[in-house]
This record gives sequence, structure tokens and C-alpha cells, in this order.
Amino acid sequence: LFSVFLTLFVFFLRYNAYRTPTFPQFRTQYIRRRSQLLRENAKCGFEPGLRRQYLRLRSQLLALRYGPLSEQSSFRASSVRSSRTTLDRMEVRFVIPKHCFAHISGSHQLNLGCGLLFYIPILTLYYFISSVPRLQFANDDKHLLACCSLDGTLSIMTLSPPPPTVKVTLKGHAGPVTDFAWSLSNDIIVSTSKDGTLRIWNTEDGRCIREVADPEGSELLCCTFQPMNNNLTVVGNSKHHLQVVNISTGKKVKGGSSKLTGRVLSLSFDAPGRILWAGDDRGSIFSFLFDMATGKLTKAKRLVVNEGSPISSISARSWISREARDPSLLVNTCVNKLLLYRVVDNEGTLQLKRSFPIQHGSQPLHSIFCPLMSFRQGACVVTGSEDACVYFFDVERNTKAIVNKLQGHSGPVLDVSFNCDESLLASSDATGMVIIWRREQK
Ligand SMILES: *[C@@H]1O[C@H](CO)[C@@H](O)[C@H](O)[C@H]1NC(C)=O
Ligand SMILES: *[C@@H]1O[C@H](CO)[C@@H](O)[C@H](O)[C@H]1NC(C)=O
Repeated sequence: LFSVFLTLFVFFLRYNAYRTPTFPQFRTQYIRRRSQLLRENAKCGFEPGLRRQYLRLRSQLLALRYGPLSEQSSFRASSVRSSRTTLDRMEVRFVIPKHCFAHISGSHQLNLGCGLLFYIPILTLYYFISSVPRLQFANDDKHLLACCSLDGTLSIMTLSPPPPTVKVTLKGHAGPVTDFAWSLSNDIIVSTSKDGTLRIWNTEDGRCIREVADPEGSELLCCTFQPMNNNLTVVGNSKHHLQVVNISTGKKVKGGSSKLTGRVLSLSFDAPGRILWAGDDRGSIFSFLFDMATGKLTKAKRLVVNEGSPISSISARSWISREARDPSLLVNTCVNKLLLYRVVDNEGTLQLKRSFPIQHGSQPLHSIFCPLMSFRQGACVVTGSEDACVYFFDVERNTKAIVNKLQGHSGPVLDVSFNCDESLLASSDATGMVIIWRREQK
């Protein structure tokens, strides 16, 4: 049922560029109205067979009139074309009635026995015009979500009270935004871009507080806050450099730079902020010791995971569950697996603990731990995958480690994020779609 609903919508969107060519302002209105009608129809009950028939017929009619439209690529290309003059970013918001999900069948969620991990897509899907490489819920906040997009903007949304709204859009980067991070108190977001700048934003009013240009003028690819001192941010660039920046001055911290073997793609501190891991596009993970007093970095260890496979994501966790108390590192690198490492010493030395099959050949996929859920039962991790699914794995299970698979995306799922109580999961994909999933208590 959900798939029919979704298809209908993607479908409306796909042809949207062709509608009212002289009055582009009506397009969003059209989609809104369709959404409303669908919602009202849904109240009277859905007849899936009929819908499918309707879809087919409509598709034939539209194809007759406007010529055939192929999948995603043409949808996006046409949206870009049409939006150039009026909207620089198409944003369509619609609401799917809750009861529509009462009948979701097994094909949409494989719930393989772990009751707490049943997530359903809720009310909202956002369509951005281009890929959404990162998204992240704010700290200790259930409903504040930020996304960055290759179109150069970041958006902060509030998901509650419904309907969800875009609170503020952070505009200023002159190139695709590659990464961002919330400060601990959520008052600041730092972002990196291929335009070669790090930007510091006020999340209340969307003002850019500071812009720090990369001294080498190279693309900035990743950033993270030092967890114990949010005045310091670490930034990685495409010329293999890592740099600690004092964001209250915008200056480089002396002794806070280092060089990797490739483009710096991913960063993660351990919780106390003493060890920093950085991954590059040649397949190496380096660990650094961080000196809290001075902000200096000391290179410690290097691990070549798989020569030539970009390390697209690293996340560190001090301990993942009662059963697995050792500090761990979760790594996405393009080897069709999600890797879980054990951190075996104070220098950040890694030892492979487990791996989980996913589809990962080239895209910048990310993964996360689910700390709360893991505390209650098992020890879970969640990852995006190139087969357009979100996977949940239980790291303590020896067989059938996969505990859930969420379907609904239409392209490689690039990032996933939980809100603070893990009642919501957000996922984004390479086609610009964001899905918010709500945990169902069973
Ligand atoms: C950042 O620096 C300012 C001024 O030096 C200080 O007042 C503030 O507490 C620092 N913030 C953090 C999170 O350390
Ligand atoms: C960052 O800059 C602020 C303001 O000048 C300064 O007070 C603070 O000590 C600096 N922090 C580090 C670690 O250099």
C-alpha cells in the first residue's frame, strides 16, 4: 500500500516540471492539492489493484502527451531545468495518513524477530533537488533535524508539532556541502564544502557567523567538533590534510595539522575526545592523539583496511552494550561490507571484530550505533546501503545478524541518524529523498 502511495507521489513529481510552464508557482500548489486529495481518498480505504491500474493508465496518457519519462535521472534533470528561474530548490512536503500503514505487508519491512526494531516510515518525505549526503538530529532534541545538500544549502527542520516545517535554511556556500556537525548545545553548526570554506552558522537565525577559507584553497570534505571543547573543530580536505581550527577565532591551531595518504573523507573522536580517527580515499584509517590543553595532534597508528577503498564513514563508541563493553569503531569502506572494529589500546589500534554484508561499491555511505536500543537488548548498528535499503544489524548475534531492513528509498541510502530517544530514525539518499521513520513499540 505504501509503495503505491509513494509511487503515485514520485510520479506526480516526475511530471511536475511540465505543468503550467508559464506559472511555475502553481506547481507546488498542485502537488499539495494532490496530496490532500490522496489523503482524503485514503480515509475511504485504498483499493491497491485499482490504484495500480490508475497509475498505469495515467502513465500511458502522460507518456502519449509528453513523451516517455525514464526514472530518477530525468525527473531530477527536469526539476533542475524548471526550477532555475523561480525555485532554486524544490521542496515538496506532504503528509501520509497514519492509518495507511496499518496494512504494510512483509515486503516493506522484514522484521526478523527483534521487536524493538520495528520502524515505520511516518508522515514525511522531503524531496531535495540533489543528493543529501549527510543528515543529523540535534543533540538531546527529539524533533530538530538538519540536512545538507549538494545544492550548497543546509536545512534545519522541526518535525513537531506536525506538519514538519523548515525552520531555517543556511545559505552561503558556493559549492556542494559535504559534511556538517551540531555543537553540543545546538547553537552552532559547522559545515564544510567543496567551495573550499568552513562555515560557522547560528542555528537560531541561520546567520553565517564566520567563514574560514582553506589555506590551500582545496575542497573541504569533512568536519567534526572536539567533543570536550566545542571551540575546536577538525576539518579534512582534498589535499590530504587534517587541520584543527579554533572556531572562536577562525584560526588554525598550531600543531593541529597532519597529513594522510589521500583525500580526508571521514572523522570521528572517541567520547572523551582523546583519540581522533581519520579515514581517507586510499583505504587508510589513521589514529591521532589529541592534546586537550593545546589542540595539538600526534599521529599514532595507521591501518590499511583495503588498499584503494575509500573510508566513507567512521564512528566511535566507548562501549556498545552490556555484553560488548569494549570500545568500538564502525567503518564503511567500499567493500560491500560494514566493518566493526575493536579498539584495543590507548593509541587507537584497531582489530576487526565483525563484518556485515551490505551493498557498497562507490557511494559515500554512513552508519551509526544505536546506543539506547543496545542498552536494552543486543547491540545494534544501522547503515545505509547502495541497494536503497537501511539495515539494522545486531553485532552480538552470530547468526542472522540482520534484524531489520527498511525499504522505501529510491537510491543509495547515504546517511542515517537517530533522535535522542531513538524514537525516530532519519535516512537520506542520493536522489535527494529523506525519510523519517518512527519506532513502533510492540
Ligand atoms: C570557547 O571560548 C570562549 C572564550 O575563550 C569561552 O568562554 C567558552 O567557554 C569556550 N567554549 C567551550 C565550549 O569551551
Ligand atoms: C581559541 O581562541 C580563543 C579566543 O582567542 C582562546 O581563548 C582559546 O584559548 C583558543 N583555544 C585554543 C585551544 O587554542
